[in-house]
Amino acid sequence: MKVDDKLRPFRILVLEDEEDDFDLLVRQLHREGISFQTRRAQTENDFMRELGEFTPDIVISDYAMPAFNGLAALRIHLKSHSEIPFLFVSGTIGEETAVQALKEGATDYLLKGHLMRLGQAVRRAVEESRARVDKKRLELELYHSQKMEAIGRLAGGVAHDFNNLLTAIMGYAELLSNGVKAGDPTFEGLDEIRKAGRRAAELTRQLLAFGRKQVLSPRKTDVNEILAGLLKLVARLIGEDILLKTQLGSGLKDVFVDPGQLEQIIMNLVVNSRDAMPRGGTIILSSRMSEPDTRVLGSCEGARPGRHVVVEVIDTGTGMTPETMSRMFEPFFTTKEVGKGTGLGLATVYGIVRQSGGFIDVESTPGHGSVFRVFFPPAVGATVHAPPPPAPVALPPGTGNILLVEDEEVVRKIAVQVLRAKGYNVIEAASGVSAVSLAREQTTLDLLLTDLVMPKMGGRELATLIREDRPDIRVVYMSGYSADSVMEGAAPEAGAAFLNKPFTPQELLRMVQEQLGQAKGKGGAR
Ligand SMILES: Nc1ncnc2c1ncn2[C@@H]1O[C@H](COP(=O)(O)OP(=O)(O)OP(=O)(O)O)[C@@H](O)[C@H]1O
Ligand SMILES: [Mg+2]
Repeated sequence: MKVDDKLRPFRILVLEDEEDDFDLLVRQLHREGISFQTRRAQTENDFMRELGEFTPDIVISDYAMPAFNGLAALRIHLKSHSEIPFLFVSGTIGEETAVQALKEGATDYLLKGHLMRLGQAVRRAVEESRARVDKKRLELELYHSQKMEAIGRLAGGVAHDFNNLLTAIMGYAELLSNGVKAGDPTFEGLDEIRKAGRRAAELTRQLLAFGRKQVLSPRKTDVNEILAGLLKLVARLIGEDILLKTQLGSGLKDVFVDPGQLEQIIMNLVVNSRDAMPRGGTIILSSRMSEPDTRVLGSCEGARPGRHVVVEVIDTGTGMTPETMSRMFEPFFTTKEVGKGTGLGLATVYGIVRQSGGFIDVESTPGHGSVFRVFFPPAVGATVHAPPPPAPVALPPGTGNILLVEDEEVVRKIAVQVLRAKGYNVIEAASGVSAVSLAREQTTLDLLLTDLVMPKMGGRELATLIREDRPDIRVVYMSGYSADSVMEGAAPEAGAAFLNKPFTPQELLRMVQEQLGQAKGKGGAR
């Protein structure tokens, strides 16, 4: 971006009523080797129009003109375009007026009889103003990325606590409904609680995604396969007034993402495009290999050079104002009516993409549609993860000794209750340290079920300690998020079993039985 800017010819708007004087200016600029484009204005209307349309890098103005006045022009200019330098060139300007002009905010002034240094003055003024704009842009970018970071941390923290509470809410609702018959008003009530719980869980999942704290199951994924698989659904979603074109590129590298999350990204973008075209239009969904250009490298958070797999969604919708664009990735930022949007769509996209090592480029102009381009780095020697667990089955009673470690009391209580009700022997601990000493007193322990993130001793350290004495123990981590400290760098043992919060009693039992190998032959084993 900066490189291009330096090479771009200067755009010079000249406010001048005398044709000859204008020619003189132009000739002088050529003589000094300035590369430029110019437009001339003589009236206030001309001037206002050119400021908007021509978007000059600098204004050169005569002082006294029959139809317009230089000082008045300066005042108009400063109101809306104070970052653009404004130079007076006048034959009549006296010293007092010149001082007055500079005081009011003119960048410089020259006399018509002494134009030898015009080019130099123009060059210096434009370069200084470009440097100022660059600096301001960098400061804004820094401010923006810090803001996103802070909101992300906040969102992740809130979602984490909510997930613990939701585990309890949904768990008790399910436990209580076990003893109640369908049709009973209590049953209905409990069912509503569970439904609301699931909706809340979906919200926290999106918040975690934005905070980049979601437990992802990335694997080598063919973007085209995902896109092709989604086409039917996309077509149904966007309705008949919108034309869908797809261009799947060839020679696409695999990317290392969670396929479910990739689908989510595409759907969120497509739904946004649909919403931006209430009276119909076109969506182009495409994929290709591409490298980010200097504009993208200079303006997209996290952008890296080199070949990427790009997924692009173009629409012919309403487009976005710069204000909307500067806030679109914030969670709960929406311009839609109450009830129409939660403002989590792009926040989720942003979180997943950044967590997957990619970045997003957005171009949009009000009235001219939008382009969302998601860049993913190609996968390198990635491991393939296990597919998600199978559908629910009726679970047989359980046997075995489980050491349950969880610092959140609400979660620990419900988990203990569920496991004991199923027949397991449960030893509970509220911290890693007490778990270690409890484990020493036990003769047999079949499974360690532990929270991943706990103060002092985390689940992984605990598992390592316990495995020293009991190398065969099975381990299941419960986790509300993939805490960076735990997930980044050395991830937990390859193939470690995870139970994402919030979980239902069913999910907890299935995971435990699966790990203890007791669900074999019932369709519950991996
Ligand atoms: N393709 C687009 N065209 C025009 N505006 C868009 C587009 N995509 C996003 N926006 C703007 O960005 C805002 C935020 O988008 P985001 O997807 O995060 O939330 P939402 O669509 O309003 O709600 P949600 O996705 O949670 O239902 C939108 O309200 C809209 O103003
Ligand atoms: Mg949306």
